[in-house]
Amino acid sequence: MSGQRRILLIVGGGIAAYKSCELVRLLAKADVAVTCVLTDAGAEFVTPMTLATLSGNRVHTSLWDAGEEAEIGHIQLSRAADLVVVCPATADLLAKMAHGLASDLATTLLLATDTPVLAVPAMNVRMWQHPATQRNLATLRGDGVTVMEPDEGPMACGEYGPGRLPEPEQIAAEIARLLGRVVADPLAGQPDFAPAAPRPLNGRHLLVTAGPTHEAIDPVRFIANRSSGRQGFAIAAAAADAGARVTLVAGPVSLSTPPGVDRVDVESASEMQAAVHAALPADAAVMVAAVADWRPAAAATAKLPKSGIADSGIPLAANPDILAELARDPQRPRLLVGFAAETGDPLASATEKRIRKGADWIVANDVSGDVMGGSANQVHLVTDSGVEDWPHLPKEEVARRLVARIAEALATDD
Ligand code: C5P
Repeated sequence: MSGQRRILLIVGGGIAAYKSCELVRLLAKADVAVTCVLTDAGAEFVTPMTLATLSGNRVHTSLWDAGEEAEIGHIQLSRAADLVVVCPATADLLAKMAHGLASDLATTLLLATDTPVLAVPAMNVRMWQHPATQRNLATLRGDGVTVMEPDEGPMACGEYGPGRLPEPEQIAAEIARLLGRVVADPLAGQPDFAPAAPRPLNGRHLLVTAGPTHEAIDPVRFIANRSSGRQGFAIAAAAADAGARVTLVAGPVSLSTPPGVDRVDVESASEMQAAVHAALPADAAVMVAAVADWRPAAAATAKLPKSGIADSGIPLAANPDILAELARDPQRPRLLVGFAAETGDPLASATEKRIRKGADWIVANDVSGDVMGGSANQVHLVTDSGVEDWPHLPKEEVARRLVARIAEALATDD
């Protein structure tokens, strides 16, 4: 089996198409053979010449190129690849894929292929949130297509929200992960692009909490916060990649479950507390959830009337501190990691929080920018030997580094 991995990259029509050029460059640098297919709309944003130069391969654009059909055949084009990547996957392309349309070269290839497919969506936030797109995504996921979550942030069209193409490095990392799964062949050795990941957490159980909690005021209203769950999900994914059995207790978020992770969905802090206890014992726990500090003292069973509440207020009760309780639990994980999100300098309180809550480490971050819901994070790791300042990194990279540190700590504790 040849060591070189082959990607068929379908470039759809959106402003994010320019990022696919950088993706081709990264893949080529990693010695992955990339063949590009450019849709008509994609060709409005990048030229075949750019992709051909970066990939070093001819770019395919038309279903009706007789010479090409005789030479290679469009079905062959997709089947010769280890992975088909659609990037950017526009709302239109996703809709066509979900409905099995085959109206041009790209969609015909997608319908004809038996190769695993990764779709990397990018579109306007309203298009992303539209029920039709969400339905199509659910269909595609059900069909076995891997769909990356888009980033959230300012968009080229001036709006703000989820829909931005993830950075090319993140897409390349996802491709490497999928290639590792798709073509790992124990007889032929590991794929070049995705060398056998070290699995330093083999045999360990990691418990991760993520996302916000919702605290019911009445059957239709609740107290919540802006946590997206992305950092916690990234940590769960990195821990699973490192070989751990992972229980992810997730508050209400709209993220898909990382491969290999056992997910328990909860709504309120008390449900989260119960799910955390049910998941014990664990070797380490990483409490990333932004648990609501308070809940309405009593959730009304019927919708509260509009009038009166503004004057009388809603009596609140403090929520249980799940992290602090876990620190005192007879089944306390050997390594207990908390997060401290503050607006402004997080360090002042993080050191105190580590001791007060009985955690071994606190990951402190300043959430005054777009950290909550965003794709990057700058954190400080507070341990009993001091404070480490980490650079501004994608949340996936923060997760990988933290998981590597957890593996080290558990290994030295043995
Ligand atoms: O006190 P603060 O909310 O800043 O503490 C943050 C850390 O404590 C996080 O690790 C969070 O998951 C955890 N926490 C908890 N239960 C709470 C509040 C916070 O587990 N009720």
